[in-house]
Amino acid sequence: MLSLTNIPVLILIVLCLRIIYQRLTNPLAKLPGPEISKWTDLFAGKVPYYVHHLHERYGPVVRTSTTQVDICDVGAAREIHKTNTKFLKSKFYEAIIAKGIENLFNTTDPKFHANRRRLLATPISDSSLSKHQPLISGRVQLAVDKMAEEMKSTGATDVFKWWLFMATDVIGELSFGESFRMLEKGESNDACANYLRQKNQYTKDLESISSLQPIKTTFPNMVDIARRLPIPIFQKAGQTTNRMVSYAVQSLDRYAAHVAENPENPKPSLFTKLLDSEKSGMSRLEIIREAQDYIVAGSDTTAVTLTYLVYSVCRDFRVRDRLVAELVSLPQPIEDKDLRELPYLSCVITETLRLHTAVPFGLPRAVPVEGATLKDTFIPGGATVSTQSYSLHRDPGIFAEPERFYPERWENPTKDMKDASLPFGGGSRICIGIHLARIELRLATALFFSRFPNASISTKDGMCEEDMIMKAFFLMAPQGHRCLVQN
Ligand code: HEM
Repeated sequence: MLSLTNIPVLILIVLCLRIIYQRLTNPLAKLPGPEISKWTDLFAGKVPYYVHHLHERYGPVVRTSTTQVDICDVGAAREIHKTNTKFLKSKFYEAIIAKGIENLFNTTDPKFHANRRRLLATPISDSSLSKHQPLISGRVQLAVDKMAEEMKSTGATDVFKWWLFMATDVIGELSFGESFRMLEKGESNDACANYLRQKNQYTKDLESISSLQPIKTTFPNMVDIARRLPIPIFQKAGQTTNRMVSYAVQSLDRYAAHVAENPENPKPSLFTKLLDSEKSGMSRLEIIREAQDYIVAGSDTTAVTLTYLVYSVCRDFRVRDRLVAELVSLPQPIEDKDLRELPYLSCVITETLRLHTAVPFGLPRAVPVEGATLKDTFIPGGATVSTQSYSLHRDPGIFAEPERFYPERWENPTKDMKDASLPFGGGSRICIGIHLARIELRLATALFFSRFPNASISTKDGMCEEDMIMKAFFLMAPQGHRCLVQN
């Protein structure tokens, strides 16, 4: 007879049998990889360092979980991330679909994606962005002015903080026609002691969104249920999402009111045309979900890249002095059109995007039902495949001395070097903000090193290399959440 006390034992037995069955029938079991990844998804390849270590041990094709394979190979990366690819975004992205609303970033449906991308792409194209140049330059200039003030009063400035404020203000203003005024609100007294105090809730939310992403994607349903339960980490995930929605709603409402008041000549934004729902076919809620993702995707990524750029250049005076020498001859005021052709600036940016890519994680894609042969290995249909840029960008067969920050390597890049670089993803799912990001990276680098030609890393308040260790989830960030620089 089955008694109530036996039920937990029975559940345990069923679970064990299920795991053994999955292990015995797992089509990925024959691929190289650690034994544990045949049994469990606990180490499901979400941490780039772990996956990189697996490549060093098992080679270019490695099983990272019961369902996922990471491939460190240029040919495979290009095949997976090409236009019209059969490798669609995997279920990982469905976990980010909040309240059932699909958007450009999270959709796994190619038709939906093509339609949405068509609507969103023109306003954020390189040529359309030229009309926003004064705004972007103005915000970058303000960030550099604030850094100068902070250096003057405290002897050092936290570039991570100011780049995050700058990138947030730029994408906020471009999306909603109005700035979040993060730069203006930032204070300029002791950078370190006041760091947390200076950050308002919005910035904290932006940071926690990226650090909570692994929880949301690992336990998507649980986060929704647990939001209502008194479990702090899940409640935090829920509260953060809710606050982000309300920022977007408030901002978009204000902008819509402005457009209604100035129908003939509204201040242009990336979403102006989409507000006309009859023409765009997009509801207000759908626009909010796109705007929300622009704010998240367009702030940390750019700020982290700029922070590591300044850090890397400041640590190597040879690189810094060569960059400064190139910038000296620029006409004033510095404009993006004069920066596009600067060869060394371009090398410095490309090298930063290689070594400190803000999205180091493999972008997971579903293998088509018929399966696929990648890097001479057959991967069965239904498996998830990724090509994490953290490893591709460190392939020693392509990049000599891969851990070295060496911009000169880009003066005469090989085809493999260019093909292996995926900081913005590739194919039809390539970053839609790539042109905006590149404009910000060029302007911020040029204005910063023109203003601070002797910049070096500060040791104030115990600032040290450990602060800059790359802490990686979906997005990369310096683990100390600061980068203090002096001139
Ligand atoms: C240095 C800065 C940036 C980096 C390194 C970066 C990186 C990436 C990467 C790797 C992807 C592909 C994600 C995937 O396939 O799963 C992506 C997609 C995306 N990014 Fe960026 N990004 C940056 C800046 C921006 C900015 C400024 C925006 C603001 C609009 C933005 C918005 C997006 C969006 C909406 C997508 C999804 C595109 C699609 O699926 O069609 N990103 N980004």
